[in-house]
Order: sequence, then structure tokens, then C-alpha cells
Amino acid sequence: MASLERVRQGLESSGQGHVLQFWPELSEEERDAFLQELGQLDLQGLRDHCEGAAKAAASPPDSLDRHIEPVPSEFIGSVRKSDRKSLAEWENEGLLHISKNRVGVLLLAGGQGTRLGVQYPKGMYSVALPSGKTLYQIQAERIRKVQEIADRKHGSKCTIPWYIMTSEFTLAPTEKFFEEKHYFGLEPTNIIMFEQRMIPAVTFDGKVILQGKGKVAMAPDGNGGLYKALMDNKVLEDMKRRGVEYLHVYCVDNILVKMADPVFIGFCVSKGADCGAKVVEKAYPAEPVGVVCRVRGVSQVVEYSEIRPETAELRGPGGEMVYSAGNICNHFFTRTFLQDVAEKFEGQLKQHVALKKVPYVDACGNQVRPTKPNGIKMEKFVFDVFPFSRNFVVFEVVREDEFSPLKNADGAATDSPTTARNSLLAQHCRWATSAGATLLDEHGNTASVSAGDTNPAQCEITPLVSYFGEGLEQLLKGRTLKTPFYLDEKKAKELQAE
Ligand code: UD1
Repeated sequence: MASLERVRQGLESSGQGHVLQFWPELSEEERDAFLQELGQLDLQGLRDHCEGAAKAAASPPDSLDRHIEPVPSEFIGSVRKSDRKSLAEWENEGLLHISKNRVGVLLLAGGQGTRLGVQYPKGMYSVALPSGKTLYQIQAERIRKVQEIADRKHGSKCTIPWYIMTSEFTLAPTEKFFEEKHYFGLEPTNIIMFEQRMIPAVTFDGKVILQGKGKVAMAPDGNGGLYKALMDNKVLEDMKRRGVEYLHVYCVDNILVKMADPVFIGFCVSKGADCGAKVVEKAYPAEPVGVVCRVRGVSQVVEYSEIRPETAELRGPGGEMVYSAGNICNHFFTRTFLQDVAEKFEGQLKQHVALKKVPYVDACGNQVRPTKPNGIKMEKFVFDVFPFSRNFVVFEVVREDEFSPLKNADGAATDSPTTARNSLLAQHCRWATSAGATLLDEHGNTASVSAGDTNPAQCEITPLVSYFGEGLEQLLKGRTLKTPFYLDEKKAKELQAE
């Protein structure tokens, strides 16, 4: 453990001596825990961090709006605009790489899920599907299924390793949950959890905030903390050892996420990309999604919190939004690009400022819950490496098929457990009917099935039977199905036997 004297010196020399002001009041146990926490702080970099945060918060945000332009549509690959042949070719290419163990998935799961308001990691959330599955279970089963599809096609046994970036808040409960659920049938050694760094929250005058008398207010360093975490935890070495060349990085909350999407992987690889982003057409100008655009000629994402409303609202001659390429936090990276970023560019990643209400103890030792922002959290964003790419591609997918994030608690108009559940059920209703089934609602009437249905019939299909709607015709064609209808593996066997 670090010595108290060394820590005290480090804090004082970076202008943070106040951190130890309540030391005499702490018990032996509290002192040990605090010293351990302080020993993990980057004391060398603390002054820069605190001064940098205060300075960044004080200066007006660098407005990018004057320098941005949309990515011309001819530079955007698109599911909707591509013919079947191209889509099939990309899918085949993706499956080939999967079958050769060249593809991994990486989940960004270090966030705190503040908007959803649960005390546990978001991936453990169940949106009350008929099956009761959590987001983690759905993701795990999609990995199992796409592995199986690649195996069958290429006659080999393949593995898609699942890298999971957690933070101090999410690591222990995530590990426990996976263990309790027997890793959802995946091989535990192919699930690699690692932790991102935490950094102190700082006041507007550059002082580390004490959350308790013996506790600094810490927060994860943003999902762009990924690149440091990859190095800290030797994740790139693990990828190399396994022969993983391509990585699909995604965020935890999109219930429709296509794990290791072979079409996206195949598209990116066939274009020779080192880096790629999936987008959907934005639903409305103020939708909280970043936009893929060009800033001073270079493609990147501008986050929703950093674009002016009047820019987001700009319309083209046909009434279409000028900035419509909505980032869905599904990215493609080659391992060699990540290696380059880790070695050469990580230090150049932009720091984003978030002003937050951070509970703290005041100078007299009273616990305070602020009603307005009092603290600065500095964050890096995962997509800020795009400008370092040599060949960055964008791939537009269909929202109803691939994007329905869980951000807010029920009661919110968008991105809630209800909207996420309905998106998945509506998709499965579409799959069942296009496989030739007729669905009946609870009154025995034919259920209407359309994209974006806000009150879909209760039809759920396990990913273990179908990854993306394939293979259903042989089970469902010509059948009339009463809902609620849950197609699990057992039911699929029964239907096959009939
Ligand atoms: C994110 C994207 C936004 C996109 C939207 C789509 C970023 C910075 N923003 O916004 O452009 O349009 O998703 O849904 O990517 N996370 C960590 N560590 C952290 C913070 C977050 O791993 O320190 C993870 C979260 O667990 C989550 C993901 O990153 O899986 C996205 O974080 P979140 O805060 O939900 O991002 P949004 O603001 O929704």
C-alpha cells in the first residue's frame, strides 16, 4: 500500500491537500480503504487533470457547428439501398471471418445507467419480455447462434470471444451475474471482463471533490476510456493470441443489437476499412444520438450534447434533415488500428466536459446533495478515434431492425423498457409473418403487423432458434399462431416434428 506521507506529498504538490482534511476523524479501517483508493490515483497527472477540467469548464465549448458538413450519401453504405446480392456477399464474407475465429465482440458496459435509474448494471435489466430475458442473456444467445450459423456454413467449430469493459461500479455485479447464469451457455474462458479507469470529479475551481470524509468522488473516464483499458488489461495481446483481427464494439442498451453482425463485418472488411460506424436515419432533430458528419473535412461523430439545436434542425431542399446519420454506438475496428490508437493516438483523444450534480462533504464535514451542477466530470468518447482512421466507413441500417435503445425509465416517451420490448416483439411478429405464419391477438383476431408497431402482439423468438429471422419458414409457414407465442428451442423441435 502507498504510504500516507507519499500520498500527502503528492496531493499537496498538486494543490489537493484538502483531500486529507478529515483524516484525523477516520477509523483505522476507513484510513486503510482511503489510502488504498488514493494510492491508485495518478498523483503525477492530478494537477493537470484538475486544472484542465476547471479550464475546460470555464471556457465556452469549442463550437464545431461552423466547421461541419454532412457526409455525402455516396460515402455511406446502406442496407436499404443495396441489392440482395451485395448484402449476401457481405454476409458471407462476415461469416467466413467468424468461422475462422477472426471476429470478436466488445461490450462497453462501464456506464452507470443514471437515466434508467437502476442500481445494478443495465445489461442485467429485463424489459419484461414473455421469456423474461435480460439484455445480457439476449446478447449471449445471439453470439451462440451466429457462431452456430458460421460453423454450419463452413464446417468448423468457431468462437467469438466476448470482451466486456466494466468499471468499478459494474465489474463485481456483472461477474456475479454471469456466474449465476452459467455464462448463458457460453464457455467462461471466452468471456473476458476488464475494468476501465476511474477519475476524480472536480469542482469549478479545480479541487477534487470529497464524496465522503474518506472517499473521493470518482467516475469512469467515459466509453473512450476503452483505449487505455485495452492497454492496462493487455486485451489487444489476448486478441492477437486468439487470432482476432476484427472487433465489433457496441453499447449495452440496444435490445436489437446484431452481435458480430456478419453483414457489417463483411461490408467493412470488403471496403478495406480499419474503422467503421453503423448509423440509422435520425428520427427527429433533437433525438439524443450523435451524428456522423465531417468536421473540417474529416469524418467523425459530433455528440448530441455538442451540436446546436439550430444545426440539428437544418433541412435540405426535400425537407430531409441535413444531419441525419445517427450514431448507434456500433463500431467496427481492426485489431491493428486499435494497436495504433493505443500506441500513438490515445494521448490525443479529446476530453469532453460534463457538468454534474456531485454529492459531497463540505468543509465542516456536512453531507450535501447539490441541486445544481457543482462538479466537472471529464470523459473520453469511443468514437473520437475515427479521425485517426485511414479508411473510415459508414453503414446505414434499418432502425426497426437494429436500433431500440434502453435509456430512460418507464413513463418516458422514448427509449424506455416499454419501447424496447415493443421493438423486439414487433420485429419478431414481422419475422413470423414473413415466414408465412398468421398471428392471432388475445381476442382471436388476426394481429396487424407493421414496422414501428407500438402495440405489437406478444410474439417472441429465442435467438437460439433465429438470429435475424432466418430458418423460420420451415417451422412456421402456413401456421396460425395464438399469441402470446414464445418460440424457444423446445417449441421449435415440436413444430419440426409435427
Ligand atoms: C451513446 C453515444 C451516442 C449514440 C448513442 C446511441 C457515445 C459517447 N455516445 O450515447 O453518440 O448516439 O449512444 O444509443 O458513445 N460507457 C462505458 N463507460 C463510461 C461511460 C459509458 O462503458 O464511462 C458505456 C455505457 O455502459 C453504454 C455506452 O458506453 O453501454 C454508451 O453510454 P451512454 O452514456 O448510454 O451513451 P449515450 O449518451 O446514450
